[in-house]
Amino acid sequence: MSKIGIFYASAGGNTTIVAEALKEAFEVEDDDCVLMEEDFDSVEQFENYDTLFIGSSSWGQGDFHFSWVDPIFEITSDGLDLSGKKVAFFGAGDAKTHGEHFCSALGKLYDVFTKAGAKAVGFVDTDDYTYTKSLAEKNGKFCGLAIDNINEPDKTEERIENWIEQLKTEL
Ligand SMILES: Cc1cc2nc3c(=O)[nH]c(=O)nc-3n(C[C@H](O)[C@H](O)[C@H](O)COP(=O)(O)O)c2cc1C
Repeated sequence: MSKIGIFYASAGGNTTIVAEALKEAFEVEDDDCVLMEEDFDSVEQFENYDTLFIGSSSWGQGDFHFSWVDPIFEITSDGLDLSGKKVAFFGAGDAKTHGEHFCSALGKLYDVFTKAGAKAVGFVDTDDYTYTKSLAEKNGKFCGLAIDNINEPDKTEERIENWIEQLKTEL
């Protein structure tokens, strides 16, 4: 199986729920599960993997977590080449209070990683969500798994389980 790395940011633990489930389902080693704020050193770490699981909750006006700011700057300014890699995005948001930017961080991360050559997998139907706008929408689908553990905590587990089953067929 291809080597998987999980890179994620979470301020309150909601995005962590997805990261932990991915870690377990795909048997990812502790060292290959990187909390951006604490364990990330350099964008060269991405080069160690065939598949990247990239996570962030959304902040401000649909921005990614602050710990992604420097890595994203490095990916774009260094012209990092991620071609040949698969990437799947995930993150928590709040569709009620921040419905104008629901989980938009996923869309911003998608733009950066796909521009660097990675191929996105794990698109999700938006039908099950109620929000106004999201930059995570690409061609009518979310470009990854959005969860709203604030307003719809009862849906989180099933959303994650379904997404993991989907990823198993796409990786
Ligand atoms: C100041 C502030 C700004 C936020 N901005 C957004 C946003 O733009 N889009 C969104 O979907 N959620 C937004 N949220 C909601 C968080 O993303 C949500 O609480 C999420 O569950 C946090 O996930 P985490 O625990 O993984 O950090 C915001 C929350 C706060 C407090």
